[in-house]
Amino acid sequence: MSVPTEDKASKRIESDTHSDYHQAKNQANESMTRGVWTERFDPRFVPFSEREMKCDLPKSAFATISHGKHFMSYRGLSLAKNPFDLTLYSTLFFEVQPRTVIELGAYTGASALWMADTLRTYGLDSRVIAVDIDLALIDGLAKQEPSIEFRQGDCNEIESLFPAEELAELPHPLVLIDDAHVNVEGVYRHFHQHAMRTGDYLIIEDTVPWIPGTFGQSEDDQEWGDWKFREISRFFADEPTAYAVDRYYTDFYGYNATWNWNGFLRRQ
Ligand SMILES: C[S@@+](CC[C@H](N)C(=O)[O-])C[C@H]1O[C@@H](n2cnc3c(N)ncnc32)[C@H](O)[C@@H]1O
Repeated sequence: MSVPTEDKASKRIESDTHSDYHQAKNQANESMTRGVWTERFDPRFVPFSEREMKCDLPKSAFATISHGKHFMSYRGLSLAKNPFDLTLYSTLFFEVQPRTVIELGAYTGASALWMADTLRTYGLDSRVIAVDIDLALIDGLAKQEPSIEFRQGDCNEIESLFPAEELAELPHPLVLIDDAHVNVEGVYRHFHQHAMRTGDYLIIEDTVPWIPGTFGQSEDDQEWGDWKFREISRFFADEPTAYAVDRYYTDFYGYNATWNWNGFLRRQ
């Protein structure tokens, strides 16, 4: 008795003989440099001014994932990262191989700890400097990690928090992550003037307008809005060619399918 076509198809998929894994693996090996598929985006680097405030993910996805994000953890510590950006960071770190990572907005220290662990796993001798206005938030486990320096300070006083002389001496590549959302223009101008060199990255978190306006579980249904995008637009209007949006990360899962819409920028 012959097997109906539908059954044949499902049987084939069940046994997974429909994929040529050898071909897929060879293709990946041939196409990747430092874990990045080199031909994926052409052009890969585009001016900030050419980018749009739109996203291939539906707005409803941001609501449910933002909810899930409150329950994220790393090594038992509360971590304010979504699954998209966690994977994007891990790929970017392997490609860029930063010697210095500066995170503005450390919260519990979980993301700094994850970054330090990840960089060490990649065999890199990198230093993470994680800043917060309130270091009482930092968990003891993160404080034990010798490659992280937790620094208490206010991003409104960025010049004293990161003196120009210190920035001039930092090992590169440098990845600067703005997750404090304070004095945005002033912070970028200071780092632009004193720290950022070709090949460094500026990662601007939470440019997505659709997330809740407050961090954590809340009854408040106010939206975050596009205020951060408007602030960074002023900076990039003055520096139109110094940075380019890296579509490899920004558009990896679809146009702006990240919390950081147009927020992965390479210093040119
Ligand atoms: C969204 S949380 C950071 C989340 C963290 N990067 C993560 O991925 O888990 C923002 C942090 O910025 C800190 N912050 C707020 N105002 C600040 C300021 N003026 N200077 C420095 N840090 C500030 C807050 O205390 C808070 O811990």
